[in-house]
Amino acid sequence: MKTYTEEVKSRRTFAIISHPDAGKTTLTEQLLLFGGAIRAAGTVKGKKSGKFATSDWMEIEKQRGISVTSSVMQFDYNGYRVNILDTPGHEDFSEDTYRTLTAVDSAVMVIDSAKGIEPQTIKLFKVCRMRGIPIFTFMNKLDRVGKAPLELIAELEEVLGIEAYPMNWPIGMGKEFLGIYDRFYHRIETFRAEEGDRFLPLDDRGELAVNHPMKESALYTQVLEEVELLNEAGNEFSEEKIRNGLLTPVFFGSALTNFGVQTFLETFLQFAPEPQPRHSDQGDIDPLDEQFSGFIFKIQANMNPKHRDRIAFVRVCSGKFERGMSVTLARTGKTSKLSQSTQFLADDRSTVEEAVSGDIIGLYDTGTYQIGDTIVDGKKVFQYDPLPVFTPELFARVTAKNVMKQKQFHKGIHQLVQEGAVQLFKTKYEDYILGAVGQLQFDVFVNRMKNEYNVDVVMEHIGSKIARWIEDDSVDERLNSSRNMLVRDRNDRNVFLFENNFALRWFQEKHPNIKLYNPMD
Ligand code: G4P
Repeated sequence: MKTYTEEVKSRRTFAIISHPDAGKTTLTEQLLLFGGAIRAAGTVKGKKSGKFATSDWMEIEKQRGISVTSSVMQFDYNGYRVNILDTPGHEDFSEDTYRTLTAVDSAVMVIDSAKGIEPQTIKLFKVCRMRGIPIFTFMNKLDRVGKAPLELIAELEEVLGIEAYPMNWPIGMGKEFLGIYDRFYHRIETFRAEEGDRFLPLDDRGELAVNHPMKESALYTQVLEEVELLNEAGNEFSEEKIRNGLLTPVFFGSALTNFGVQTFLETFLQFAPEPQPRHSDQGDIDPLDEQFSGFIFKIQANMNPKHRDRIAFVRVCSGKFERGMSVTLARTGKTSKLSQSTQFLADDRSTVEEAVSGDIIGLYDTGTYQIGDTIVDGKKVFQYDPLPVFTPELFARVTAKNVMKQKQFHKGIHQLVQEGAVQLFKTKYEDYILGAVGQLQFDVFVNRMKNEYNVDVVMEHIGSKIARWIEDDSVDERLNSSRNMLVRDRNDRNVFLFENNFALRWFQEKHPNIKLYNPMD
């Protein structure tokens, strides 16, 4: 039996970030297979279709009551307890996707080696960078022809501005993919080889120590040269830089053919951090502290009107959660018993009896919780730092279809905004503008206004805008125009919504004294 400290130190809680189609689901499935959490690939999401469109997702919500099974996946591997948090993309992209990154201790970035770094990866990376968490890179799809590895490494450094350290280096790619030269374990891992031949040792000079046909290949010679270049001119391996999110270890592989995945997993678990302290209004809280505490990073509303329950996702930050324990909600000071709790696995939803720092639990919620809430056990009540605000990109003007329903309309909007489902802005004529990072947030909003507040809303989409706040918050209202709309956020601060990048640059050149900023930069 592990002690409490050992339990906490064995936790590895992370999210996989990527642009849709890079291979996040495939990699997740391989990891779950290693952990024995699932038995066959294709279990995490619908096989073939791979991902759900919003409409399918709602259909699934309807059929199953609430669908959260793949939000958090847990498995044991080599003495570690691994928690993978899903970060939905595509039409499911929402502020919750960003917020999930506030609940992890590290992130794995999956990149399609043929496409390089894509827009959604950049967005998610920025949030990880904001938090300074370690980022591990998996360059995927080496079984296909992609960009040259040196180009991919340069892209990481140039586009994302993070130092990269290749842990291994591909020998060829596509049909000519022979394997990876493993700089870290000092061996070559051969592609599609029989078990006994899979790992070939290197000698002191870094060359194959055994006789192997690969030695005759020009690709092998090229890799020896490239690795020499990396050794001489590349970044140094630094555990400290990895921990501070300044350097990303890069692993090449192919999730689909399960090549390089196990090596990646084992090295990742070794260097990824255990649960880290979290800052509160009473200073840093140590994950080894005995007092139970956690914060809510996501609330999943039920789309089915027959089941009004919601699930609040809690990241445990200290102490031990036990079913039935009483906790205080720091925001209200109210104490209640946590009897209805659920833990998430890939295939199944089971009741959790115990969880420690690093784990995620789901609480059935009937409207008690808000995103960012802290719950604590015991006398010392404190509050974790509020979650960051994420800059919305999509906007829509919202009104009630039936003018007689104004009261419910306002109540609904204010509660949903409080809860963090969408962001609210007002024009100078007091029109309501909603902001979101993904279309899903609007769909959920419309649905919940109808089901929970009995109000049909009319959404007039005004498209994507670039939102910028103003440093000293002072502005001449006459600057409001269709290309740079002036609105106020829920804290009554001025915000410009620019039509596009060009409008933003034009404005900045014309008004150099107005200092604009993006809270996510
Ligand atoms: P995502 O969750 O990041 O959106 O990506 P997902 O894993 O669904 O993978 C997207 C597509 O890329 C899938 O193909 C998947 O089979 C493929 N893929 C993932 N990893 C690799 C790899 O290492 N090599 C190659 N060649 N392909 C890979 P699909 O045809 O879109 O879906 P499916 O019909 O096979 O499910």
